[in-house]
Amino acid sequence: MNGAEDGGWSAVAQEWSELWGALADPVTSAIIEQTGVVAGTRVLDVGCGSGEFLAKLESLGARVTGIDPAHEMVRLARAAAPTGEVVIGGFEHLPWSDASFDVVTAINALQFADDAHDALAQAARVCVPGGFIAIANWADGALNALNALESAVAEAAGEEVQPDGDYRRAGGLEALLSEAGLEVTASSLVETPWEVADESALIRGVLLGEDQDTIAEYAHTVLAAAEQFRTPDGGYRLVNAFRYAVARTAS
Ligand SMILES: C[S@@+](CC[C@H](N)C(=O)[O-])C[C@H]1O[C@@H](n2cnc3c(N)ncnc32)[C@H](O)[C@@H]1O
Repeated sequence: MNGAEDGGWSAVAQEWSELWGALADPVTSAIIEQTGVVAGTRVLDVGCGSGEFLAKLESLGARVTGIDPAHEMVRLARAAAPTGEVVIGGFEHLPWSDASFDVVTAINALQFADDAHDALAQAARVCVPGGFIAIANWADGALNALNALESAVAEAAGEEVQPDGDYRRAGGLEALLSEAGLEVTASSLVETPWEVADESALIRGVLLGEDQDTIAEYAHTVLAAAEQFRTPDGGYRLVNAFRYAVARTAS
């Protein structure tokens, strides 16, 4: 999927919001702290999805702006953060003039940009000199309980498990930001648990975006692999991890 397409994400936007929208909450809290967001801070969230982070920033009094190529994500984000401006678009073209924002963020979104280096150049352009760029992504598969479920499904389907990309590994985000000429000021690994209430939510979440036949075919595989993560109340709790890095633009 790239900035010119939105079909995949629009089709799953409602379920994404319901099942995955809160996932990055621990990492967005760390980013708020590390970038010093306060009332009045101008924040742009690129790949804002259904707008949970925008809503959180808005509750702090920040002046929020979001951009996402998926029109259904944009619709949900506008409802989540009604004081904000949310537009359809992507990393490939950020339609704001230079130095428009104090902080530019991308949570679990940079990997969808056509080119990560070009994307960061766009982010740095719209950020004020001495402002902050913050990027967060899933950490290495081995650190994510979800990996056990995805691996089980891949094995059942006779597919290869995708290797970790560079930005999932320790030091990957820091290297990317440094290569863009930015000064890394903070980075960390953050636990991001994923909790669902029941089997149905687990299956819908893990197989998000799959058609009904595929969901029926692999539901048992998901349930068997998730047995170890079952909670006494019949739900599931999978402990995963995100990495984030924060950098300053040149003053
Ligand atoms: C995994 S979701 C994450 C959404 C949100 N940031 C969150 O953490 O909940 C990825 C989002 O990136 C968006 N996206 C896809 N391609 C993009 C691009 N080229 N530029 C910006 N966002 C993009 C998708 O539409 C989707 O909303």
